[in-house]
Amino acid sequence: MKKIPFNKPYLTGNEFKYIEDAISNMHISGDGKYTKLCNSLMEEKFSARKVLLTTSCTHALEMAAILLDIKEGDEVIMPSFTFVSTANAFILRGAKPVFVDIRPDTKNMDENLIEEKITNKTKAIVPVHYAGVSCEMDKIMEIAKKHNLFVVEDAAQGVNAKYKGKYLGTIGDLGCYSFHETKNVICGEGGALVINNEKFIERAEIIREKGTNRSKFFRGEVDKYTWVDIGSSYLPV
Ligand SMILES: Cc1ncc(COP(=O)(O)O)c(C=O)c1O
Repeated sequence: MKKIPFNKPYLTGNEFKYIEDAISNMHISGDGKYTKLCNSLMEEKFSARKVLLTTSCTHALEMAAILLDIKEGDEVIMPSFTFVSTANAFILRGAKPVFVDIRPDTKNMDENLIEEKITNKTKAIVPVHYAGVSCEMDKIMEIAKKHNLFVVEDAAQGVNAKYKGKYLGTIGDLGCYSFHETKNVICGEGGALVINNEKFIERAEIIREKGTNRSKFFRGEVDKYTWVDIGSSYLPV
């Protein structure tokens, strides 16, 4: 029987050349030349305020949950049909996922069922752009504005796709991309956090660097780096 693979990783041919270059200057810890190039490439191409490559989309979602100060008892609205990481990232911070049913046509959260799920504990809405098909972002952003909620786009499957001329991931306060082997653009395991709400930029750098202001140190903005917040290690080579 002929087996049809679910996916085949796509390679362009330059991978080994760039890997060799990446390690040849002996800087093989986080935020090296190619991570920085990827950040600027995405910022330019997607007209994004700030993009930080992460070790996975799961980790970008975890960063989003920390940035929003999600706490025990908070509620986060998301579709009932998604990948586990959408929910896990918020549950890890003590929040309760509140599931909204999906539309049969797009397989995305039904924007008309969101408002009835909002309570005084709701903190954020997490639309997932299933298979790169956009959620109804105008309506979702309008609801979020009306109820003072944050929007985190889980655009794991939506890299390079658009909604009304805007790249997915650049519409909500934060967006999360995946470059896992099963996606269209891959690096094995990897992701990115897109920061559209300016107020999250400085803290995102800190959370991604184990809760330290090491990024500021490398830019020469402080004379030594120190522990300033909670965080983890979310930066790739
Ligand atoms: C909707 C969705 N969110 C999050 C993820 C997690 O991505 P990663 O494997 O990069 O952590 C995936 C991965 O398939 C996904 O499909």
